[in-house]
Amino acid sequence: MSSNGSFPVIATRINGTIYCYVNACPHQYLPLNYRSDSIISSDGHRFLCSAHGAAFDIKTGDCLTGDCDKLDAISVVEDLAGNLCIKHREP
Ligand code: FES
Repeated sequence: MSSNGSFPVIATRINGTIYCYVNACPHQYLPLNYRSDSIISSDGHRFLCSAHGAAFDIKTGDCLTGDCDKLDAISVVEDLAGNLCIKHREP
């Protein structure tokens, strides 16, 4: 998270469902697009970290290669204008 409270996210839509995560690879907390903006596998099922090659299931965020944690999921909703909004978490 930056000093102004913002953080980078990655989001994609598969069959109408939006999957959103903090854009920080759990290996070294670099953004998945650190070395390349090509971060979706050719089959469309995995996010690929461009730094060292970790792969993550787009639908779950689970790490599929190597020994790293899963991506941090963000719950989002889409408003009528198509904007993604982070869901408010009840205390
Ligand atoms: S920072 Fe992503 S695999 Fe190393």
